[in-house]
Amino acid sequence: MNQNILENEYIEKFPKGSHLAKMGNFLRQKKNPTILEFGVERGASTKAFIWLTEKLNGKVYSVDINDCSNVSNAENWKFLESDDLKIDHVLNSFVEIKKKGVDLIYIDSYHENFHVIKLLNLYFKYVKKDGAIFIDDIDNIEYRKSYNIKKESAKFWQCIVYDLTSDAVKEFYYNNMEKTHYTKYFGENGLGKFYKLSNLFEEPNPYKKLWNYNIFIKILYPYLRKLAKLIRL
Ligand SMILES: C[S@@+](CC[C@H](N)C(=O)[O-])C[C@H]1O[C@@H](n2cnc3c(N)ncnc32)[C@H](O)[C@@H]1O
Repeated sequence: MNQNILENEYIEKFPKGSHLAKMGNFLRQKKNPTILEFGVERGASTKAFIWLTEKLNGKVYSVDINDCSNVSNAENWKFLESDDLKIDHVLNSFVEIKKKGVDLIYIDSYHENFHVIKLLNLYFKYVKKDGAIFIDDIDNIEYRKSYNIKKESAKFWQCIVYDLTSDAVKEFYYNNMEKTHYTKYFGENGLGKFYKLSNLFEEPNPYKKLWNYNIFIKILYPYLRKLAKLIRL
């Protein structure tokens, strides 16, 4: 552990067991870590990253579609107002990432499965070997527990979005199993982690649709099993 960091201050910024701490603990293993963050808003994650990388002599690069430049004036932080899918614009603005890659990417911008998958496919190669990509909001249990069918249609859609994102992220893993390890953390709406095994600048595998059974088979499964036994399938 780095000696510049007071543990009580660290725990204040990265509370024990939190998703932020999962990323903070990962970064503390790195020398001069660089972070690329998608989604800043009011800067909760950004400020924590900035604080930690100041101690570790690292850098934070953040992108948001809205102007969030007032979140911090720290020297080790660069902000770009842009759609994060505009990779050429992002990399030409953050040339260090284009040339040397990053240790950690944090995806917390537009929470839709198609967006997250595009980001993974675009930016995976810019993560260094033994670096990681973290993806926020991939588990819907908090919404399911508090859902009120009469009042909260937004929560209904949110449940589906998080499920679709979780499935899409898992599918990305299945397509790239020799290039990355995948972990899903529960709580706080879920957090995915890809630990990168392949080298910097190596592309992810092209998307290949994997066989899966039809969702209705799941519902019919008990009856199909009985039928299969009856006809000795
Ligand atoms: C959930 S908030 C980010 C929260 C922040 N990481 C935190 O911990 O406080 C999502 C942010 O993503 C931004 N966003 C949405 N779509 C985006 C896109 N296509 N490109 C970049 N940022 C986007 C929104 O403007 C919003 O500020």
